[in-house]
Amino acid sequence: EEAEPTTGTWDALPSIPLFSDLPRDAFIQLFERCPLRRFGPGERILAQGTHGDAFYVICEGSVRVFREEDGRRQDLATLADGAFFGEMALLSGAPRAASVESLSDDTQVLEISASVLATLSRSHPPVAKALKKFCRERLLANVMN
Ligand code: CMP
Repeated sequence: EEAEPTTGTWDALPSIPLFSDLPRDAFIQLFERCPLRRFGPGERILAQGTHGDAFYVICEGSVRVFREEDGRRQDLATLADGAFFGEMALLSGAPRAASVESLSDDTQVLEISASVLATLSRSHPPVAKALKKFCRERLLANVMN
């Protein structure tokens, strides 16, 4: 798989609530370590039921989260820049709970691997805590749906 190196001036770093408490240096280091992936409209980013060893932060654009059951498609959420997805499989070890596709012409997501997250969680525990909180809320929402 082709990984595009993250480039550009650090001034143009997107605002991402998940990382709002990270010191600037740690935030920049994170960007340097993680590939930025780009998707066109309708392009599949994650497939429900597959194994997951990374989660994704939306730097640009928006995505649709949906489930497919018995050939029926159920939309769960639309997420835009600053939001993240893919944390559920990463935290639980379960297969991807839903599929995710790009809505925008040029959706850009930062791919954060399990090992980078492990390091980040050790140095900055609130990040792991926030991820878990979202994971719990989404799990619950899907059960109630
Ligand atoms: P994961 O199961 O790894 O892969 C699919 C992702 O879709 C999942 O992690 C969540 O990040 C996201 N997701 C699942 N359900 C919802 C929901 N109800 N609202 C927002 N995002 C969701």
